[in-house]
Amino acid sequence: MAEFALPKNSKIKKGKHHAAPAGAGKTRKFKIYRYDPDTGDNPRTDTFEVDTDDCGTMVLDALIKIKGDTDSSLTFRRSCREGICGSCAMNIDGTNTLACTKPIDEVRGEVRIYPLPHLPVIKDLVPDMSTFYAQYTSIEPWLKTDSPPPANRERLQSPKDREKLDGLYECIMCACCSTACPSYWWNGDRYLGPAILLQAYRWLVDSRDESTGERLDDLEDPFRLYRCHTIMNCTRTCPKNLNPAKAIGEIKKMMVARR
Ligand code: SF4
Ligand code: SF4
Ligand code: FES
Repeated sequence: MAEFALPKNSKIKKGKHHAAPAGAGKTRKFKIYRYDPDTGDNPRTDTFEVDTDDCGTMVLDALIKIKGDTDSSLTFRRSCREGICGSCAMNIDGTNTLACTKPIDEVRGEVRIYPLPHLPVIKDLVPDMSTFYAQYTSIEPWLKTDSPPPANRERLQSPKDREKLDGLYECIMCACCSTACPSYWWNGDRYLGPAILLQAYRWLVDSRDESTGERLDDLEDPFRLYRCHTIMNCTRTCPKNLNPAKAIGEIKKMMVARR
């Protein structure tokens, strides 16, 4: 799998080495990106030796252990620990993925951990997702209707129409795909990127939504949609096995069909 570019922070120095505790069983080395804006120092990578006989099986387990036992200042996001919230997305062994579902044993040698690429870094493994979320807001990710709702029941959808949302509703907005996309790296301020476009398509194909025309108008732009050059990094990296590149292709087809 392709390795992605490092985060948007200048030179990375070699940092501290934390040896395993005496009497440790099977140890693995974790090389982790560190950046603290309060010190103003260049980023560095610290190495932590972890006793994996005394640790859970996933990379997130090791990060939690390091934070608990060795360096409480290590900063990362996590919540659900089961691949649902998307908050533990980071670059592990050269690939964007979820730390909570990435088995340590899948990585050979040193486990290299960096923040998601090409986003400003707030601290250590925490990237600034403000632009990403603003872009999500811009597609108005909710059901938009003009007609009044039916009396005494919700708006219904046939099983066949509901099936059109499969492969879309499962997206957890982890941003692994967008931050693996070269077009998003270079034009992230104007190109919506694969995650947001997959979400846009989720509302475009919802049979209950009554704003399809407006939604397409909003995407009809050389940057918002058409910076996708079908490089496919997005689909290769999605930890939920979704296919944002296909969703983008479907939006382009909808654009052509309405001309
Ligand atoms: S297919 Fe499009 S969205 Fe996906 S990585 Fe390539 S350029 Fe980016
Ligand atoms: S499409 Fe996949 S990689 Fe992209 S945000 Fe959704 S779950 Fe994450
Ligand atoms: S902690 Fe929620 S997806 Fe990893």
